[in-house]
Amino acid sequence: MTSSSGIPHHIAIVMDGNGRWAAKRFMPRLAGHRQGMESLRRCIRACVDRGVAVLTVFAFSSENWNRPADEVSGLMELLATALAKEVPKLQQDGVQVHFVGERSGLSDKVRAGLAQAEAATASNGRLILNVCFNYGGRWDMAQAAAKLVAQGKPITEGELQGAMALAHVPDPDLIIRTGGEQRLSNFLLWQAAYAELFFSDKLWPEFDEAELDRAMAEFSRRERRFGQTSAQVAAGDQKVA
Ligand code: FPP
Repeated sequence: MTSSSGIPHHIAIVMDGNGRWAAKRFMPRLAGHRQGMESLRRCIRACVDRGVAVLTVFAFSSENWNRPADEVSGLMELLATALAKEVPKLQQDGVQVHFVGERSGLSDKVRAGLAQAEAATASNGRLILNVCFNYGGRWDMAQAAAKLVAQGKPITEGELQGAMALAHVPDPDLIIRTGGEQRLSNFLLWQAAYAELFFSDKLWPEFDEAELDRAMAEFSRRERRFGQTSAQVAAGDQKVA
């Protein structure tokens, strides 16, 4: 879905490169994640300013549990601190926050914090922010299928779409990955079907408004065909996702 001004309705981001940003400065990896948090704050504000309706970010993957224990506990701590500190700012900016992912592996304290932040921001309407935490695209497909089976519903594309953890928003139009790698790493596997991909060499802590604008400008130049021909798109009968 794209507005008439060419602004993507939904942007999703793999925020990669925190560790390398820190290593370049002889700092611990967690310092990179802290700086990444600053970058996320700046990016949320920039998306609000540009009229983006939905921003989805990959903050902690199902596979990130395999990282060193101090990095995992540091990321949990960062999340808990962010919840306490950021919610008033999200309120000011009109941001409605959703946490997307498996909650059962998280501590009671973190789980309660997530639920409180969601409840506190539920009536905000300027930007929907989905923070994917303890999330994996394969987990999402499996949990959606399990839900349908439990409800005795058929496994169809439509039913699955409605049972996915991101069913409250349309699929992403633009997926950005920072840090120079060109892969999805188990992010939004189902929802990425027709997304435009943009890979940035910037490390996430260095991702700024100018780089966001570069990604959005590149997006506005892409022809989205959704399986149709270029001629059909030119004739104006483009299917809108
Ligand atoms: C990937 O960089 C980044 C992460 C695994 C964490 C992303 C977290 C933030 C941006 C902070 C916001 C956090 C919360 C909890 C909302 P990497 O560590 O893989 O970097 P590298 O590839 O350079 O090692």
